[in-house]
Amino acid sequence: MSASKNLSSLAIVIMAAGKGTRLHSKRPKVLYHIGGKPLVAQVIAAASRVVSPENIFVVIGHQAEHVRAAVAASGVRFVEQTEQRGTGHAVQCARGAIAGYENVLVLSGDVPLVRTETVQRLSDFHEDQKAAMTVLTAEPADPFGYGRIIRKAPGSAEIEQIVEQKSLAPGQEEIGEINSGIYAFRTAALLAHLDQLSAENVHGEYYLTDIAGILHAAGERVVAVKAEDAEEILGANTIAEMMALDAKQNAATVARHMAAGVTIYMPETCVIEPEVEIAPDTVIEPFVQLRGRTKIGGDSIVRSFTVIESCTLGDRVLVLQSCVMEDSIVADGARIGPFARLRPGSDIGPEAHVGNFVETKKAKLGRGAKANHLTYLGDAEVGEGTNIGAGTITCNYDGVHKHLTRIGKGVFVGSDTTLVAPITVEDGAYIGAASCITKSVPAGALAVARTRQMTKEGWAAAKKANREKRSE
Ligand code: UD1
Ligand code: CA
Repeated sequence: MSASKNLSSLAIVIMAAGKGTRLHSKRPKVLYHIGGKPLVAQVIAAASRVVSPENIFVVIGHQAEHVRAAVAASGVRFVEQTEQRGTGHAVQCARGAIAGYENVLVLSGDVPLVRTETVQRLSDFHEDQKAAMTVLTAEPADPFGYGRIIRKAPGSAEIEQIVEQKSLAPGQEEIGEINSGIYAFRTAALLAHLDQLSAENVHGEYYLTDIAGILHAAGERVVAVKAEDAEEILGANTIAEMMALDAKQNAATVARHMAAGVTIYMPETCVIEPEVEIAPDTVIEPFVQLRGRTKIGGDSIVRSFTVIESCTLGDRVLVLQSCVMEDSIVADGARIGPFARLRPGSDIGPEAHVGNFVETKKAKLGRGAKANHLTYLGDAEVGEGTNIGAGTITCNYDGVHKHLTRIGKGVFVGSDTTLVAPITVEDGAYIGAASCITKSVPAGALAVARTRQMTKEGWAAAKKANREKRSE
C-alpha cells in the first residue's frame, strides 16, 4: 500500500481458530514453533509490516486463551470463532470487525513463511485490478492436498472458482496452480455474499474458497496473482510438514550468515533463528543453537553443542563446548566453558574466564576476572583481575530473599569458599581455602574461616593395636 493511502482502509484477518486435526496433538497447530516462533506469530509479524496491529484481527477458537496469550503482546485484536465450522465460517465471525474497512486481506495462521513483500504485492495487485477478490496462488512441486485454481481461460488473470482437493473432478488433479489460503477482498463484495456459503461438501464445512465461484457467478471480478516462490506459501498441516518448513527457514538463515562472512561447519546441524546477528570471521561449529535476539561479534568461536539464547557476545569471544547461555552479555576476548551455564543477567567482562561447571546468574565479572572451575556466582559482582578458586559458592539465598555478594578488584578467593551474602570482600583481599565467609573482608586483609587442622601422630597404629586387643 502506498504511503498516501489511509491505513485504516485495509484490515487483515488471520484465520487461526482451527484445531489442526492432522497433528493428532492437544496443542493447537498455530502454536507450534518454527524458527523459534509460533506459526501464528510469524504470520502476525509479516502482517504487522503491512498494517498496524490494531487493524489485524486474529480469529481464535480452539484453545483460544492459549493462542491469545501467546500473541497478545503484538497488539493485534481478536475475534472468537467458538465452533470451528470452516474457513468461510471463520471469516463470517470476523464480519463485524472488518465491516468498516474498504479492503481486507485474509491470511492463514498455518502458512508461516509468507513474506511481507508478497502480502504487499497481493494487496497492490488487488487494488490495481479493481477486483472483488484476489487469490494468491503458486505452483509447488506437489499440489496434492491444496485447493486448485480454475482460471477463466489460460493466461487470463480472472478465475472462475477454487476446487478443494477432495472435490476435484476427473482431470482437475492435473492442475498445478494451487490456492495459498491467502486472499484480498473488497470488503463490501465479500460481506454481500458471505452468507451464500454452504456446508454441503465432504467435510461439512463452510469453505472460504467457495466465495470465489460465488463472486464470479455474481458478475464480480475475481483474479489470481502467483507468488514468485512457491516455497513461501507452503502450508503446515502435519508435524512433518511443519518441521520441513522449519528446516527450510533455518537453511535460508544459515546461508545468509555464510554469505555475509560467517563460517558455519556442517550448517545443516546448526539452528540459527531469524533475528540472530553475527559479524564476519566468526566460526560456528557443528550442533550449535543460536536463538532469540543473540548478537555475536567478529572473530569469535562457538564450539559444538552450545546453546545461546538472546545473548550479546563481543569480538574474539571463545565459547567452548556444551555451554548454555541466556540473556547475558559477554565482552570482547572473554572465554566461556566448556560446560558453563550463564543464566539471565550474567555480564562477563573483557578477557574474563568462566570455566567448566561454573554457573552464573545476575553476576558481573570485571575485566580479566576468572572463575575457572566448579563455581556458583549468583547476585554477585566480581572486580577486575579477581581470581575465584574452584568450588566457590555465593550463598545468595536465605530461603526468602536474594542477597548480593560484592568482591572487589584483585581479590584471591581460595578454593571451596562459601560467601554468605550479603557480604563484601574489598580490593586486594585474600580468602583462605575452604572458608565459610560470613563477615565482610576489608581491603588487603586475609580472611580464613575454617576449623584449625588437628594432627595426631601415630594414631593409625594405635587404633590397630587397640582393635587387635579387643578381638583376642
Ligand atoms: C485451505 C484451503 C485450501 C488451500 C490451503 C492452503 C479452504 C476450504 N481450503 O485448506 O484451498 O489450498 O488452505 O494452505 O479454505 N481455520 C479457522 N477456523 C476454521 C477452520 C480453519 O480459523 O473453522 C484456520 C486454521 O486454523 C488454519 C486456516 O484456517 O490456520 C486454514 O485451515 P485448514 O483447515 O488448514 O485448511 P486447509 O485444509 O489447509
Ligand atoms: Ca492448512
